[in-house]
Amino acid sequence: MLEGKVAIVTGSGPNIGGEIARTLALHGAKVVCVDFLDDRAAVAATSINESGGEAISISADISTPMGVEDVFLATDKAFGRVDILVNNAAVNNEAGILDVEYEKWKWVQSVIMDGTMLCSQQAARRMVDQGNGGAIVNTASTTGHRGKAGFISYSASKGAVLQMTRTMAVQLAPYGIRVNSITPTQTGDSRGTTPGGSTAPRAAKPKNIPLGRWGDPSDQAQAVLYLASPMSAYVTGENINVDGGLLALFPSERDLGQT
Ligand SMILES: NC(=O)c1ccc[n+]([C@@H]2O[C@H](COP(=O)([O-])OP(=O)(O)OC[C@H]3O[C@@H](n4cnc5c(N)ncnc54)[C@H](O)[C@@H]3O)[C@@H](O)[C@H]2O)c1
Repeated sequence: MLEGKVAIVTGSGPNIGGEIARTLALHGAKVVCVDFLDDRAAVAATSINESGGEAISISADISTPMGVEDVFLATDKAFGRVDILVNNAAVNNEAGILDVEYEKWKWVQSVIMDGTMLCSQQAARRMVDQGNGGAIVNTASTTGHRGKAGFISYSASKGAVLQMTRTMAVQLAPYGIRVNSITPTQTGDSRGTTPGGSTAPRAAKPKNIPLGRWGDPSDQAQAVLYLASPMSAYVTGENINVDGGLLALFPSERDLGQT
């Protein structure tokens, strides 16, 4: 389905990003795995190459223009084009409005907002020059749709991702470049490994997810595959909630603290 396409996946760690990279590769894309931590990108690229796909890895910080330039120069050198960009890298900072530190607020914004903007800009410029469209898939969060106490930086940045998705989609539509997003809720297990993320143990079963289970990285990867492929040729500026129905649920009086 993606034969001849080149895809960049940022934040290709062992949880959602790695699974997205492997899924796109399985469907024929050549993949550029990007991560700033340890050897995470290399692990993802190696697993693709060992399964018969084609991938390279880049260790880079996508929150800075210089890091993003490294990613796209390496992509140009290896594959000479880019057709799909998945903006997946993120960090968290569990602090609310009363106690958030300015430097951490800026850090989360720089990875989620600046990283999404900088990578999208580089990808979109190349896609415009190439002249045959492209697909950008951003990663939001249920926390970007609803207020969540204690997550001011992350929720503000993820809300911005949803709005950047619509805004980029409108501008890039005349070039055949589609921009969409997915919205995961708690998925897989990155507790203790995500920079700034939670280390708290997760309950075996969720209380308020209608489908009755936590997300699996493959749930997110399948949605990205749809948005990155011609299956979604007439879809742009859209978000898919891959959240087991969480955002569809009307909060009960007990959840609202009104019992
Ligand atoms: N897992 C969940 O429960 C969940 C829920 C809602 C949304 N999401 C979103 O899904 C995406 C993937 O989540 P995940 O659980 O796989 O997270 P993760 O922490 O396992 O993976 C994110 C990866 O991004 C990398 N990264 C962070 N900053 C970077 C930078 N500046 N440059 C390059 N790489 C960087 C990290 O090293 C990490 O490997 C994120 O955007 C996250 O916000 C996840």
